[in-house]
Amino acid sequence: MAVAIAVTRERRDGETRCAVTPETVRKFVAMGATVTVEAGTGTGSSIPDADYTAVGATVAKDTKAVLSGADILLKVRGPTAQETSALKPGAIVVALLDAYRDKETVTALAGAGATAFAMEFVPRISRAQVMDALSSQANLAGYRAVIEAAWAYGKGFPMMMTAAGTVAPAKVFIMGVGVAGLQAIATARRLGAVVTATDVRPATKEQVESLGAKFLAVEDEEFKNAQTAGGYAKPMSPEYQAKQAELTGEHIKKQDIVITTALIPGRAAPVLVSAAQVATMKPGSVLIDLAVEAGGNVEGAKAGEVVTTANGVQIVGHTNLPGRIAADASSLYAKNLVAFVGLMIKDGALALDMEDEILKASAVTHGGAVVHEGVRG
Ligand code: NAI
Repeated sequence: MAVAIAVTRERRDGETRCAVTPETVRKFVAMGATVTVEAGTGTGSSIPDADYTAVGATVAKDTKAVLSGADILLKVRGPTAQETSALKPGAIVVALLDAYRDKETVTALAGAGATAFAMEFVPRISRAQVMDALSSQANLAGYRAVIEAAWAYGKGFPMMMTAAGTVAPAKVFIMGVGVAGLQAIATARRLGAVVTATDVRPATKEQVESLGAKFLAVEDEEFKNAQTAGGYAKPMSPEYQAKQAELTGEHIKKQDIVITTALIPGRAAPVLVSAAQVATMKPGSVLIDLAVEAGGNVEGAKAGEVVTTANGVQIVGHTNLPGRIAADASSLYAKNLVAFVGLMIKDGALALDMEDEILKASAVTHGGAVVHEGVRG
């Protein structure tokens, strides 16, 4: 029997992305799998049902039947409790489960006997680059953050010389230069802004400069050792943070746009901009806090809200920025999934090797239990 892959509509918090595109349906069919897509799955990404049918998928309205027939369920966000309860025991689920935070979904998946994989746990080894959904989505989030800033900002980004006078370029400061931050620098530069950026990992200095932006950081001994072997930032000492705040505080005063993307895996995001610093900014300035869902880098940022401060500064706390560029985000995420699912289909049949390095690292539930140490602990 061919492997039955199912994709249902996203049901959480206005999620606009989807886990399959016509392009990836073709790839699954080429692997010898069948694909069933719940009606309306692609709507938020401008993919009509007919486009799925045209490439060999079955589009079905009966959600329960779609779920109960699935060997593999693909989603962007974790399945709802109702979806999970409709799965057959042993079904495989692949999604951005947000497994550290969403224990309820993880418990339900274990209880239903599902083998669930969290795309956010795919290790960042070279073989898995093509499956790296954190990067594919962060890249688009970084782009979109700049677009949101340009939209909220009442002035232009590029310098414009006109007969009626010169428009000054916007000054943009990017705090946190991982995947999202690098794309934000590149996008702000393309729009003509004068860009500066900071990070605590020394490796970022060269990356920032190679994109034509200026690097700003407290480059002391602690900074030289701030990167973990895994390439992530370490939490910095209170002393470092105080020095950092002093340096960036002077700079933030003069900025029109500040975009923050600083995260430390498994911990709350560091607060990089205090309310007092926001109060020093000019009216009309804009802050975009990409870390808002992890507690926020900007004091006063609220998830899902745009806060206007007493001095006329907007703090934009949009959640799910990739969902604001849904068609591209879905396209890249769906390709990440094809590569990931490719690890478990051999010669058209399901061949799940739980000892595979990538599958092992991203497995969250299996055989009725929570198997991921970080999530269980
Ligand atoms: P992330 O989303 O965990 O964090 C974003 C940025 O915030 C990081 O650059 C981090 O250093 C910075 N940050 C943390 N605390 C800060 C503070 N107090 N002040 C200023 N900045 C702070 O990072 P992301 O985007 O996941 O990238 C992390 C690393 O992983 C990078 O080295 C990146 O190059 C690497 N990477 C490797 C890949 C691969 O080899 N396949 C794929 C993607 C990323």
